Amino acid sequence: MDIKPELFKVTIDGIEVEVSPGTSILQAARKIGTEVAPPAMCYYKPLEKSGGKCRACLVKVAQGSTNDPRPMPKLVASCITPVQNGMVVENFTNEQVVDTRKGIVEFLLINHPLDCPVCDQAGECHLQDFAFENGNGVQRFEEERRTFEKEDIGPYIQLQMNRCILCYRCVFTADQITDGRVHGVMNRGDHAEISTYIHKTIDNDFSGNVIDVCPVGALTDKTFRFKNRVWFTKPMEAHRDCDKCCGKVHLWYKGDEIIRVTGRKNQWGEVEDFICNTCRFEMKKTSDWIVTGPVNISRHSVISANKYAANTIKKPEFALDYAAEHYKKINDSRPYNKNLDEIKASEDYKTLMEQNENYLNKSQN
Ligand code: SF4
Ligand code: SF4
Ligand code: FES
Repeated sequence: MDIKPELFKVTIDGIEVEVSPGTSILQAARKIGTEVAPPAMCYYKPLEKSGGKCRACLVKVAQGSTNDPRPMPKLVASCITPVQNGMVVENFTNEQVVDTRKGIVEFLLINHPLDCPVCDQAGECHLQDFAFENGNGVQRFEEERRTFEKEDIGPYIQLQMNRCILCYRCVFTADQITDGRVHGVMNRGDHAEISTYIHKTIDNDFSGNVIDVCPVGALTDKTFRFKNRVWFTKPMEAHRDCDKCCGKVHLWYKGDEIIRVTGRKNQWGEVEDFICNTCRFEMKKTSDWIVTGPVNISRHSVISANKYAANTIKKPEFALDYAAEHYKKINDSRPYNKNLDEIKASEDYKTLMEQNENYLNKSQN
């Protein structure tokens, strides 16, 4: 006789779902779909022990279980909190959660550089999405941002510590899928940083996967650096027989040239199968691969821009409304100065140039 495993009933934002005991609230929410799934900046399903670092996924447990219906007193991290039978969870429907998440965005951005225009992660950055979908659009932090010395961690991976959000994903990746981790989080508090300690190169057959798991532009592919904006590329599904990994990848084309190879990711941005460095960094010719077709990209992604008929992309009216509400009116009554030498000699011009130069120097570190 078949014995069916006991399932727990959980309600998230008013939608009921049945899951096995031991499932986290976040996984239960993902089972329902994107409309209730909390954002996650550090949790990464393929990596054991990930989660519990960023607080992006906080939710309100309005009822603990059928047996003990008391609410949990504080918001909980949904990625590391297991469900109970009869649990009632509020995510996007709870004002406190929505408000707290705005605070988490602001907190993550306290030290984050304004690098998006020069950052290779732009367009596929989870922090950009998180801030856009959950943030306030304003920043109250007025102190100077924390910066780190440039560190070379090898020929393939670019470390930009200023952009790191200390999610630990790259540390777990190196621990769990490579045969010798040489990097980790050094120091504590405001001084905590990803580093190799007595400066070493991160070099082994699977090291490139730290690039795929990094939610921001702190670890990027040196072979792809500044080659293109991701929304101008054409991603294709491809595979090859590889004796080290699954050989299933996404090829990112610029015209006929492969400019980047990455692992395939699911709808939550998690790698389906980790790939080896040979596939990632050395196989950059179309003849190395069996190409099976274009990658199915979600239409809300910026990577889809210009790849569908114009009428399938919504006009960004919210952006125009936002601009109309928040930006200052330009004072057109000021006299227009056409004398370039005079402009260049002005204090305003010198300060602006100085600020630009400082910013560019920092960005290129
Ligand atoms: S990691 Fe890069 S793209 Fe993402 S928010 Fe930071 S600067 Fe922008
Ligand atoms: S480098 Fe990237 S993956 Fe590693 S801890 Fe920082 S943000 Fe996370
Ligand atoms: S995703 Fe849950 S704490 Fe980071």
